[in-house]
Amino acid sequence: MHPRNKCRLISRMNDTNPAPAPARPDSSVPVIEIRDLHKAYGPLQVIRGVSLVAPRGHVISLIGSSGSGKSTLLRCCNLLEDSQQGEILFEGEAIKWRGTGMARVPADRAQVTRQRTNLSMVFQQFNLWSHLTILQNVMEAPVHVLKRDPKAVEARARELLAKVGIGDKADNWPAQLSGGQQQRAAIARALCMEPRALLLDEPTSALDPELQQEVVKVIKDLAAEHRTMLLVTHDMRLAADVSDHVVFLHQGRIEEEGPPARLFSAPRSERLRQFLSATMAE
Ligand SMILES: Nc1ncnc2c1ncn2[C@@H]1O[C@H](COP(=O)(O)OP(=O)(O)OP(=O)(O)O)[C@@H](O)[C@H]1O
Ligand SMILES: [Mg+2]
Repeated sequence: MHPRNKCRLISRMNDTNPAPAPARPDSSVPVIEIRDLHKAYGPLQVIRGVSLVAPRGHVISLIGSSGSGKSTLLRCCNLLEDSQQGEILFEGEAIKWRGTGMARVPADRAQVTRQRTNLSMVFQQFNLWSHLTILQNVMEAPVHVLKRDPKAVEARARELLAKVGIGDKADNWPAQLSGGQQQRAAIARALCMEPRALLLDEPTSALDPELQQEVVKVIKDLAAEHRTMLLVTHDMRLAADVSDHVVFLHQGRIEEEGPPARLFSAPRSERLRQFLSATMAE
């Protein structure tokens, strides 16, 4: 048989009998999608019809003045807060709800747990357990919530602590670390859940400028690895450097959004212009 025909035959055999492909999520489906979300605390409307999309591997930054609803939006995403209207989708799967309006709650507990595992959160104030060592902090949820093998989790935890530059702090208590080191431990803890996306709520705001840079470097490394992230930040330089898309929230609505190069250099809305000039002047 002519070698070319042999090749064709093999390729035809492969067509009818394909080798099992490794399961790979469909990259065209956004990791997170929010459609027309509304959230109130009692009479106070905090999120008023927000829609956004976080495609796989993209960094979406949320900026806006204090009280504009940035943290609330992140917390709604991983269901730490209930919302009254609108949809939240994770990799195309919509959160199931029971009830309507103020009585609306997630209907499926297993789905809530999945959502929180898939979207790991990093808080401004680190929130490390003070009675656990750094290593134990990182291992806690994967071992006790996700029931993963402690040996494998420990190996991964040590790897992640080394990755964020604090491999030598594994056996220290949180109080023995600087703020920047604690925040890097909190990022390692979030990563140890092997999440599909990270939600970071002002990860650098509680830190002195020089400690901020340690955390900024870790966030930039994660962005360079194409981690999907929703990042709330007051650091416009960080937002400009790492984001694929920036969303400016004002009083619970998206006032303006776009790629950072355009948004920061040529803001269209007067409110964003004012916000940027006030923030840059700080
Ligand atoms: N648990 C709560 N109960 C009642 N109101 C709340 C609660 N949490 C937040 N709010 C209100 O919701 C609004 C949005 O708060 P949110 O924390 O989302 O703002 P933010 O944009 O993150 O602000 P900041 O930049 O100061 O962190 C504010 O008016 C706030 O007072
Ligand atoms: Mg906030």
